[in-house]
Amino acid sequence: MKHSTKVGIIGAGPAGLTLALLLQRKGIDCIILENRSRQYVESRVRAGLLEQNTVDLIRELGASERLDKEGLEHHGVYLSFNGVRQRVPFKELTGGRCITIYGQQEVVKDLIQANLDRGIEILFEAHAKHIEGIKTDNPSIFYQHNGEEHELTCDFVAGCDGYHGIGRQHLPKDTYNEFRIEYPFSWLGILANVAPSSDELIYAYHERGFSLHSLRSETVSRLYIQVENDDTVDNWPDEKVWEELSIRLGTEGWSLQSGPIFEKSITPMRSFMIDNMQHGRLFLAGDAAHIVPPTGGKGLNLAVADIRFLASALTNWYENQDDSLLQSYSQDCLRRIWRAQDFSNFMTYLFHKQAPHGSFENLLQKSKFDYIGISKAQATTIAENYVGLKEI
Ligand code: FAD
Ligand code: DHB
Repeated sequence: MKHSTKVGIIGAGPAGLTLALLLQRKGIDCIILENRSRQYVESRVRAGLLEQNTVDLIRELGASERLDKEGLEHHGVYLSFNGVRQRVPFKELTGGRCITIYGQQEVVKDLIQANLDRGIEILFEAHAKHIEGIKTDNPSIFYQHNGEEHELTCDFVAGCDGYHGIGRQHLPKDTYNEFRIEYPFSWLGILANVAPSSDELIYAYHERGFSLHSLRSETVSRLYIQVENDDTVDNWPDEKVWEELSIRLGTEGWSLQSGPIFEKSITPMRSFMIDNMQHGRLFLAGDAAHIVPPTGGKGLNLAVADIRFLASALTNWYENQDDSLLQSYSQDCLRRIWRAQDFSNFMTYLFHKQAPHGSFENLLQKSKFDYIGISKAQATTIAENYVGLKEI
């Protein structure tokens, strides 16, 4: 069956869903193809840290009712090195900016509802197979839905389909360079029914490895722990998780509360980049074009930042027949992406165990950590990157 729209969006993650809402506001038709079910994407546990820019956009889109009620604003973060803890305050270092803790699956639920309320078509369990004609004015996305083959013809294709999607596979190989780091460690992430033991997040280096204390609400804690790449969740019974977290996050006069764990999964850590995100009528955004290691919480925020540029560029094309913002799309996005790559890589090396205790690399880690407490300039660098650069 043949269908048509103006912008064909592959992927109903944060990138695809925000793009559709921004386009719809300007009267530009689009359809979202998502290969998973609604229930699956709404319950996929991932990020939790929203930059001010991201919260501002969700508000601007009129989809922040629940976020405004349930999101938890944080005005600082704790950093710990072998039990020595310091706080980086955001307010005085960034002119009043902050971060908000609100689960990605909640963001996705709110954005899906907003899309459906506004009549935007999201086809769940629609598997995009291939894209044709990206160098023509009418590219097509071929997809499978309800056991039938379909063709969606559009003016533009937005590949918002994540790292494993098909969007990037359709960028000709000679149009970009690829950069990649696979880190020699992974994160075991848990969700537990227990009140958070800290009012703000704690990123901790410990001789036994990295750990992170985050949260989802006053009754749900989210914690992460550095594990080996070949480790499995079966090696981590609940008691062992809590014992290890308690050692790694520990500091004098503080204790970690444990509780029933209801979700456990392991995520590999990588940095991945391409230096061109478009070709002809195909534009990539979010994880389809870049992956940052999660230390620093930048992935979802970067995806949304790409979309701001893409939506403006498409709007300028439809409203003014001006393609200048489409031409500069990759370059406009890459400035922020490289900053986020640098910050995420810095935070990853600062807090993960990768060299023996007392080695040169390990003593440099310690020196970098101490410098945050000594230098307001260094603390400001961390704070402004962490809350998200405003103009870039
Ligand atoms: P995705 O969310 O991956 O969405 C892509 C969508 O495309 C998916 O729904 C997928 O099913 C669909 N799709 C794929 N292929 C096809 C196809 N062929 N046809 C149709 N649909 C397709 N980021 C932060 O900002 N803050 C954090 O605190 C943070 N913490 C994280 C913690 C963990 C453990 C992990 C794993 C990630 C974390 N991230 C964080 C990263 C963040 O989750 C991602 O960067 C974000 O999901 C990217 O959004 P996206 O829309 O680009 O891609
Ligand atoms: C969370 C995840 C992160 O990667 C991070 O840096 C901070 C918070 C979270 O899931 O809450």
